[in-house]
Amino acid sequence: MNQIFKLTSRRNFLFALGALAASSTVVISRILERHQDIEALDNPQRNFTVTQELSLKQRAAAKGLFYGTTSTKSLLAANPAYMAAIVENCSMFVPEWEFKWTAGDTTLRPGFDKFDFTAADWIADFAATHKLLLRGHTLVWHESLPKWFKDTVNRENAQQLLQNHIQTVVKRYAGKIHSWDVVNEAIEPDDGRDDGLRITPWLESLGTNYIDLAFRLTAEADPKALLFYNDYGLDYDTPKHEAKRTAVLKLLERLKSKDTPIHGLGIQGHLSPGKYKFNSQKLRQFLADVASLGLKIIITEMDVADNYLPQDITLRDRIIAATYEDYLSTVLDETAVIAVLTWGLSDRYSWLGEFKPRSDKAAVRPLPLDQKLRRKLAWNAIARAFDNAPIR
Ligand code: G3I
Repeated sequence: MNQIFKLTSRRNFLFALGALAASSTVVISRILERHQDIEALDNPQRNFTVTQELSLKQRAAAKGLFYGTTSTKSLLAANPAYMAAIVENCSMFVPEWEFKWTAGDTTLRPGFDKFDFTAADWIADFAATHKLLLRGHTLVWHESLPKWFKDTVNRENAQQLLQNHIQTVVKRYAGKIHSWDVVNEAIEPDDGRDDGLRITPWLESLGTNYIDLAFRLTAEADPKALLFYNDYGLDYDTPKHEAKRTAVLKLLERLKSKDTPIHGLGIQGHLSPGKYKFNSQKLRQFLADVASLGLKIIITEMDVADNYLPQDITLRDRIIAATYEDYLSTVLDETAVIAVLTWGLSDRYSWLGEFKPRSDKAAVRPLPLDQKLRRKLAWNAIARAFDNAPIR
């Protein structure tokens, strides 16, 4: 009996060893393939040189475009050099926190009928002082809502709350805002609804009409601002991004057919090379479909996450630059695109350091300037895309 047991367990052991070896080979070959795929993202012959000593905003302006970025009051107030870099490169600005209901160290809406404009006013003054076109971000979003929101808002008071918010905030800055992201990230096909709408507190308390309502209220409060719908996950050749493009397009068509005062689509443009495949034809078609509705397009929050890229900085920076140039040269071919903003200007102040850190703990490098505000290849790539863009 013992003998049989020994033989069987020896056979099992050898079998398990064989299976382990086979599965390790599969894993190793997958890692190698992935490594090769990522290396292939860089073409060593490609160069990112730029001609002329011009800033990004000057290169954009030569094509009838704007270039901008985001930051916060606390960061700008504490970093004169960073503020100077923004003023040098940008013609457009969007606050990262101050126009949201609450974010970071700022709360615009401390209570159901309370407003605190201290930080938002500072941002509006900063933009006016430096002649930066100001974007408002954002009036209706399922994130960045204050704690009291969940306990207080219901079907009876939601419309009054939204109306009061939009009338008060939008009127206060009327005449100072280039464009509002009226509604942010309202599409999520994974939530399983036929209309593709994300299930949010706004949808639950106001019904499907809340998007149209928000646009109408904003247009009434500031008839001159351009009104945008803003979303992410629209860029790549994946079934998920394809579903999102389709649902966003349907939403825009529905709004246009109801004469909702909407003027544009904000495409956030948070890119992830090494994770997803890019197909310029599919993106170009989507942009053309949006433009055919008579809408403008802004790339509102571009950055290039490097958490799937190798640690080597030279290689990483080349892949990031190529990602910027390939994406921007595709989108800028569409003349309905009127502006490009990156979600930050320097690697030192990117949300990605906290939200998508690298597993090797190396500092992330997703933006045009490095930690010390020196230009990177990504800066050149953006400059080249502006230089090669058609005039609009
Ligand atoms: O500063 C505190 C920190 O002390 C604390 O340890 C940490 C814990 O989570 O929170 C920190 O503040 C957070 C801040 O980001 C800094 O990381 C805030 O809670 C958080 O509200 C804030 O997140 C912002 C986020 O939107 C939500 O408002 C990000 O700064 C901002 O970059 C991000 O921006 C969004 C766009 O609005 C919409 N599209 C996606 C984009 C990136 O997520």
